[in-house]
Amino acid sequence: MLTVENVTKIYKKSSSFFKKEKDFIALNNISFKLKKDNVLSIIGESGSGKTTLAKIICSLLSYDNGKIEINNKNILDYTKQELSNTVQMIFQNPYASFNPKLTIGYSLKEAVDNKIADKKNFIKEKLALVDMADDIFDKYPHQFSSGQRQRIAIARALLKEPKILIADEPFASLDVINQSLIMDIFYKIKKEQKTNIIFITHDISSAFKISDKILILQNGNMIKYEDVDNIRKEKNNYYVKELINATYLMN
Ligand SMILES: Nc1ncnc2c1ncn2[C@@H]1O[C@H](COP(=O)(O)OP(=O)(O)O)[C@@H](O)[C@H]1O
Ligand SMILES: [Mg+2]
Repeated sequence: MLTVENVTKIYKKSSSFFKKEKDFIALNNISFKLKKDNVLSIIGESGSGKTTLAKIICSLLSYDNGKIEINNKNILDYTKQELSNTVQMIFQNPYASFNPKLTIGYSLKEAVDNKIADKKNFIKEKLALVDMADDIFDKYPHQFSSGQRQRIAIARALLKEPKILIADEPFASLDVINQSLIMDIFYKIKKEQKTNIIFITHDISSAFKISDKILILQNGNMIKYEDVDNIRKEKNNYYVKELINATYLMN
């Protein structure tokens, strides 16, 4: 359903005549596939290119080489609207997710397709999935904790009924209790929604639990892309162990 083929991303460094800087290769020839009803975790040290890759798949960022297809159609051939109905991304920082001047109800309604007849009920269903009641409509983003806001952001992404949901370190800024609440929500989404998940995390243990495939990035290079069972078997392999330790320590 999602095919990423030889994708390379170069951040151009501004250079003047006197100060030549090299361009920076953030992603180097990345290829992988996400199959239907699968969860893929992307793991890597900070700076390894995870967010860059996520943003490229959502077309929030351009890329320099390669090809990305969703359901056999190049993402460059999707309209902005089509792509937003197909891929949704949840960001690391839930504070930036909502317009502070708009009520939550307004932001949520805005995300619902006009084809949906009973918008309010539809929103209620998605909010129930993230354990939020519908009494939040008239409130503003600042009236919620970051954990609640992250849950509302997940509900809003699900309102689009996207084929792919990309969660970029969704609990990086949350306490342990909220982290486990959000993890439970992802299990529920995996089970109940027709959404494929790309889960970007440095929490290896939750990645092992929820994923079908694991992709490990290091300095923009894909150093592993395997079924989770294979990686689990390799846990005692020195190379994999080092990676896992490194990923733990760096984040
Ligand atoms: N807009 C940008 N311009 C230049 N370099 C960038 C830009 N965004 C990210 N980078 C660099 O690209 C690398 C990968 O960043 P990122 O994708 O955010 O990594 P991760 O999400 O794994 O922490 C980092 O070295 C980062 O400094
Ligand atoms: Mg990141």
